[in-house]
This record gives sequence, structure tokens and C-alpha cells, in this order.
Amino acid sequence: MADLARLVQDIATEMRDASDRGEVASYIPPLARVDPRQFGLCVVTAEGAVHSAGESEEPFSIQSISKVFALTQALGKVGDTLWRRVGREPSGTPFNSIVQLEREQGIPRNPFINAGALVVSDINLAGHAPREAIGELLRFTRYLADDDGIIIDEAVARAEQATGFRNIALANYMKAFGNIHHAPELTLGVYFHQCAIAMSCRQLAMAGRFLMHGGLHLPGGPRVVSAQRARRINALMLTCGHYDASGDFAFRVGLPGKSGVGGGILAIAPGKAAIAAWSPGLNANGNSMLGTLALERLAEATGWSVF
Ligand code: DON
Repeated sequence: MADLARLVQDIATEMRDASDRGEVASYIPPLARVDPRQFGLCVVTAEGAVHSAGESEEPFSIQSISKVFALTQALGKVGDTLWRRVGREPSGTPFNSIVQLEREQGIPRNPFINAGALVVSDINLAGHAPREAIGELLRFTRYLADDDGIIIDEAVARAEQATGFRNIALANYMKAFGNIHHAPELTLGVYFHQCAIAMSCRQLAMAGRFLMHGGLHLPGGPRVVSAQRARRINALMLTCGHYDASGDFAFRVGLPGKSGVGGGILAIAPGKAAIAAWSPGLNANGNSMLGTLALERLAEATGWSVF
């Protein structure tokens, strides 16, 4: 493999100069204001080396990437009984789609589409006040990243709430099927705030380490989840982490990955690296255009594809 530090730098240079950068998400006003010229990349290796380039220290809204941490938290609470309420199949539909819910009795296809993430938020709420559930997720994310500087961007959370009519519809629709157990507005409060967690590429790659280390926080360190659960979360990221573009991401990059409309992507090379890429401009499927391209370049040069 070529020198990794150099490779990360070269990829960032190519992305900095790219002219076609996609479109920033416009449906949440604070996201629409983010400068599309930014690009960040951070690779944390299994040995603990950290290679960063570009705007890798700049916090951005992790949005749907939070669904990985929320799922991990919910599985810790209820174990595999979670799968009675959420499926494990790719949906082939956009992240905020409602069409399958009627045919499938209010059971979302997987935990990474919005409907599935709302059920996960409902599980994490577990009869507590939304503030407690959100605080717990934030503390868990800080623990995973070894970084107390991770925060929730309240302006983004408020904007999610003010514009989240599809999510409000999804939560209420699933409530009608009995698959949301709390008042929908409480479950939605948890979901909107988890989407508003802000992290840098470095913080995000650090938080993803347990998925490269087979469920351990660090090699020889405390266990976050079992090895089997880490494998399964990675499998879901690979098959469902990019919604209706999950197949294309597997084809181009070949790594478990989870995207967010803030332009971030967390990708895992099991046993090798945890990687975060960020560029706010999105492609037609709502995934970071340059983030995906950067991961494609990285996987190609390192041979890290799982295939
Ligand atoms: O509309 C929402 O639910 C968002 N705040 C989160 C969506 C998201 O990041 C989808 N991913 N690509």
C-alpha cells in the first residue's frame, strides 16, 4: 500500500480542486447555508494512527449517521427483540419514503431509513424524558470518540422540528400500527436532536473505531458490543446505509458506510480502518458527492474493499 498519510493528503487535494461538488441539502435552512467548497477526510487505522486532511477538524451536522450510534444504543437496551419492530432488508426507496409502511404493517424495512430510525428512537426513549434519551446518546457518542467536545447543534434541531413534516407523518403512521409506543412528538424530539449532533471527521472516525475492532472500544480494551453485533451493524451499513444508492456505494467503495444529508459518510474497513469523509454537496441520491468519490479512491488505492 502506498504511504497512507500521503494518500489521504492527495485525495483531499483532488477533492479541494473538484468543480462538480453536488448540491447542499436545502430542506433544512441551517444545512443550506453550509459552504460547499469544504472537504474533510480522516482515517484512523487499527494500529491507532490518525491521518487527516482538508477540513477534518470542522464540525458538521452528522444527520443520518447518528442512526448507527442510536441503533447500537437501542440494541444494548432491548437486544435482538428490536428486530420484531424493524426489518433488516434494503428498502430500495429514498430515506424518507412512506410507501412500504402500509403494505408492511408499520414495520420499517431497516433501521437506517427514517421510519426505522424513528422506531429506534422510540426504543431509546424507553419511558424517559426525551432530554434524558438524547443526553444518553450524546454521552455514548462522546465515549466512543474519546472526545467530550461533541455537541448538539440546537439551531439544526429546531429547524428539523420546524420542517420535519414527513418525519411527523411517518411517526404518526407507525403509531397507528402500534409500532411507536410513546407520544409521537416525544419520539420525534429524540430523533430530531440525534440528527443535529455535530462532529468533525476526526471525531466521527474515532467514534467508528468499535466497528473496525470487532466491537471493542480499542484492541484489548473494553467491549462496546459483541463481535457478532459489530459484524451485523457493519452488514446493515453495507446493505442499507446509503438507502436506494446502497448498491452503488457497495459497487464503487465496497465498505460498510453510513451517509447523512449534512454530507458526511462514516465507512468501516473491518480490522483495518475507520474512515470519515465530509463534503456538503450531495449527489442525486442525497449522499455526499465528493465524500463518496474520496472513499472510492481510498478503497481502490488501499485494497480495503471487503470484496
Ligand atoms: O430529514 C431527516 O430526517 C434528516 N434530518 C436526516 C436525514 C438524513 O441525513 C438522510 N440521509 N442521507
